[in-house]
Amino acid sequence: MSILLTGGLGFIGSHVAASLLEHGHDVVILDNLCNSQASVARQLELLCAKPIPFYEGDVRDNAILATIFSKHPIAAVMHFAGLKSVAQSATDPLLYFDNNVGGTITLLQAMQQHGIYQFIFSSSATVYGIPQYLPYDEVHPTCPINPYGRTKLQAEEILADLAVSDKRWAIASLRYFNPIGAHPSYTIGELPNDQPNNLMPYINQVASKQRPFLTVFGNDYDTKDGTGERDYIHVMDLAEGHVAALRLIQKSAGLHTLNLGTGQPYSVLEMIQTFEKATGQSIPMKIGPRRQGDLPIYYACADKAKVILQWEAKRTLKEMCESAWKFELQRQSLFK
Ligand code: NAD
Ligand code: UD1
Repeated sequence: MSILLTGGLGFIGSHVAASLLEHGHDVVILDNLCNSQASVARQLELLCAKPIPFYEGDVRDNAILATIFSKHPIAAVMHFAGLKSVAQSATDPLLYFDNNVGGTITLLQAMQQHGIYQFIFSSSATVYGIPQYLPYDEVHPTCPINPYGRTKLQAEEILADLAVSDKRWAIASLRYFNPIGAHPSYTIGELPNDQPNNLMPYINQVASKQRPFLTVFGNDYDTKDGTGERDYIHVMDLAEGHVAALRLIQKSAGLHTLNLGTGQPYSVLEMIQTFEKATGQSIPMKIGPRRQGDLPIYYACADKAKVILQWEAKRTLKEMCESAWKFELQRQSLFK
């Protein structure tokens, strides 16, 4: 049996593919390449030394889903295919609702038609919104503050209704915190389009002299050093969390909503210092204004995943920085 990964050539999907292959699972990938490159499939094949069925197509296309479900013995689907820019979701909300919510509905309908009921969904800590308390646990109220977050929450609501409607559904909705870093082969990693929005890819581009300096978005927050604090999680820990979630849904039906984070927040300044120490590269920076829509601090309560998945994040911030940088050094020769 195989696992279908939609968006499986993207940052998180490709690392989950690597982990699944390492654990002896077969994978099939569907990706429309709107934010990834076909050569990632080649890197995955080199890693696992076997061919990986890859379909270039859209998760909203019922015909391609029918082809995949007819041709391959798919046991479970992991749904990474989504758009993730908060800023773009505010300027083009229809695109986001169509892709992220519409895509999820089309996929779930196709699964139902083919009798496949095991599903893992890429949700986000963004669904919580302004913290009423910290750390966020899974029962913290959900009130996302941007359209992107609302697409994730709407998809979660659909999953909750689906799980109630038919007891065959076994669903894990995984709320990711801030995944960074790269696979230990350094042949897959984060490949941002053009100007990255997120901190780690931006630091990498400053370290590799593609950009002159990092702008720190505000140093007047009520946090340990005034800069924003986040729960960064190594993408390989996150990937292993998916392998554990797959084990869970194979034996336990219903909807399982779980944070995937470390429970440990770090500030922007701590991140810069750790990166500099881990890589020997210096990161010139300037303090700029706050970024609109940023929260000062949020991080996960990781207890539920520990108990239910018997999984916890193990890798340090230093390892996250090192691996991100080592991938950056190889990236240009691997991906044109
Ligand atoms: P990514 O952009 O690197 O990967 C997403 C992949 O999905 C890309 O390869 C893209 O080409 C593909 N895709 C998008 N829309 C598609 C469609 N309609 N049909 C087929 N393929 C499509 O993003 P990522 O960081 O790997 O994120 C994966 C998922 O996790 C997304 O749903 C994202 O919203 C969610 N998420 C990401 C983060 C993060 O910090 N990276 C945090 C929380 C949640
Ligand atoms: C952002 C998204 C969030 C999404 C997450 C992962 C916004 C408002 N939020 O979150 O919805 O789930 O990415 O994709 O876009 N920073 C700088 N300088 C930079 C970049 C970032 O100082 O050039 C700071 C930010 O202000 C923040 C921290 O670094 O304090 C982390 O930023 P980022 O990596 O963008 O993640 P989030 O803000 O958590």
